[in-house]
Amino acid sequence: MKPSVHHTLLAALLGAAGAPSFAQGPGELVLYCGVQEEWCRPMAAAFEKATNIKVLMTRKSSGEIYAQIKAEAANPKGDVWWGGTGDPQLQAAEEALTDPYVSPKLDELQDWAVKQARASKFRTVGIYAGALGYSFNTQELAKRKLAEPKCWADLAKPIYKDDVQVANPNSSGTAYTMLATLVQLLGEQKAFDLMKAMHKNVNQYTKSGAAPARVAATGESLIGITFQHDAVTQAVNGAPVKVVSPCEGTGYEIGSMSIIKGAKNLANARKWYDWALSPEAQAIAGAAKSFQVPSNKKAPVPEQAPKLANIKLIDYDFAKYGSSAERTRLLKKWDDEVSKLPK
Ligand code: F6P
Repeated sequence: MKPSVHHTLLAALLGAAGAPSFAQGPGELVLYCGVQEEWCRPMAAAFEKATNIKVLMTRKSSGEIYAQIKAEAANPKGDVWWGGTGDPQLQAAEEALTDPYVSPKLDELQDWAVKQARASKFRTVGIYAGALGYSFNTQELAKRKLAEPKCWADLAKPIYKDDVQVANPNSSGTAYTMLATLVQLLGEQKAFDLMKAMHKNVNQYTKSGAAPARVAATGESLIGITFQHDAVTQAVNGAPVKVVSPCEGTGYEIGSMSIIKGAKNLANARKWYDWALSPEAQAIAGAAKSFQVPSNKKAPVPEQAPKLANIKLIDYDFAKYGSSAERTRLLKKWDDEVSKLPK
């Protein structure tokens, strides 16, 4: 049916005045997703199905989302930052780039997830946890008759020249977790000495944190430093990889979620927030072959998820390494002292 002149005029007038549409539908949600695309997509689809809210999703790495939200602060485009490591989300909280929200679901969460919320004055919350480590391609290792790497220190050995892949800590939360982990494990001087020695073995600093697990799976790189769950995904897909918990001990992440300050779709952002903390939503991870430990106590823990209780974990100081001053300082130091070194 052709719209009447009357209607067309009215619509034009209202449009010119910037008036909202009369029909208040469920609307939309702009989601910045920091986990693997394979997990972002079914999350967005399940939320759309449950609420009829249209999800406009972009996937990026943790440091990139932080930088984007900061760049857009004067005119925010995103509503929710879901997934990715907690450190840059704590930094965003400190810089008031994100909004406080006390979800009614907080009571259902593990202590480590609530701790993240309290530390940020409820500007972020834990959605999953996972330990850092690395994986190597067992076929390549056997073919080249090399010794199995077992420790962080092994990754600096000359026998692994050009064999190690890890992300750039500026873009990747995974790689920043490694940087902060080594500083906490070894002290700053020794940690930077190790990263400088490791630099000679690094074939590429990738943008995304999980990418090195994929190249270790195909054998393009012998070793890939990632969260252990990302290497498990490759093993579950049949790749010949062995997952290593470094002998010195290792750090871990509290994957997090925040509502962006100035979110245009604030009510929908809060709906997503509550929903994403529910056991049903968190169960989507395992089905998407993402093997982190979920934060809702009632969510199923995927059978393949690395058992955090069996891993020698450091007492990662999230408040310190997620602070604006420390993260900025360490990243600059890495840029100046590690990334610019000749091979
Ligand atoms: O989705 C996999 C994952 O390892 C998450 O557990 C983690 O929060 C995120 O990727 C980190 O990605 P990046 O290192 O690219 O910021």
